[in-house]
Amino acid sequence: MNAAASSQSWNAERYAANARFVSDLAGAVLEWLDPQPGERILDLGCGDGALTRRLVERGCVVIGVDASAAMVAAARELGLDARQLHGQSLPFSDMFEAVFSNAALHWMLPPEPVIEGVFRALRPGGRFVAEFGGQGNVAAIHRALVAALARRGLVVEPDTFFPGPAAYRSLLEAAGFEVERIELIPRPTPLPGSVGAWIETFCHTYTGAVSPEQRPALIEEVVASLRLALQQADGLWVADYVRLRFRAFKPPAPPLTSGWTPSTCGGGSAPSSSAPAPRPLSISGAIERAFRRPDRPWWLVRRERAWMIEG
Ligand code: BEZ
Repeated sequence: MNAAASSQSWNAERYAANARFVSDLAGAVLEWLDPQPGERILDLGCGDGALTRRLVERGCVVIGVDASAAMVAAARELGLDARQLHGQSLPFSDMFEAVFSNAALHWMLPPEPVIEGVFRALRPGGRFVAEFGGQGNVAAIHRALVAALARRGLVVEPDTFFPGPAAYRSLLEAAGFEVERIELIPRPTPLPGSVGAWIETFCHTYTGAVSPEQRPALIEEVVASLRLALQQADGLWVADYVRLRFRAFKPPAPPLTSGWTPSTCGGGSAPSSSAPAPRPLSISGAIERAFRRPDRPWWLVRRERAWMIEG
């Protein structure tokens, strides 16, 4: 799955052959999501749509987004509403009951604009439930790749990040989320083939540092150096996956005690005690309320409201 790594060139067929386990192993994070029929859900980094489809089958209204055109095309072939978008520039406001993401957030750098975009996309009270690579994820494989490239005099900047729970909790809280639970889960993962096929599927940034002619030798060298650590006696390769899984909430909107006035957004005078009884909330009033936050200046609230109304 991929939602941001433009340096990665994804091949949907290779992904299906070597990475189907990624969606097959998503049972726990789906349980944490607990999707309900009729809920509007954003699947962030939807890949080829395997999990998006499972959410649709449960009666949810789902938009899938992914940075890879090939993955979006594969998801659309399943009849899904999939859009090619980067996680760092999500255009949605106040639209979803939940944002879901599996095995994708580690590609989306830097993480701050991604989390802020998710916060904006959620309705007040909405939830952000995700699982991705956490601290120590595929460390042996990355170490072996870095070492093999270093032997060729090459240094490659990692295109993924694998945070621990404390670091990611801070990022979520800085964006305004309330974190209900966040856990680091070691999950050694049997691979459908050799770790070499896994590297070819996922590690384009590293393998792309050498020419196509030099690539097979590079991968063979990495595979040989990993045999002792990751291959079992029966030949099965087991990748050293570690998952970071969390469930966080956008706080619910505060209860409406009177009609909106500029004073609630940092200016003007307070409503008098003889103020008329609250009127039913209009659509623009509801938007206003959704965006009203004491930590936001009034002009930003107004501008966001204008964006919402203009579309
Ligand atoms: C992961 O899902 O943890 C992952 C996949 C490919 C490269 C790095 C991490």
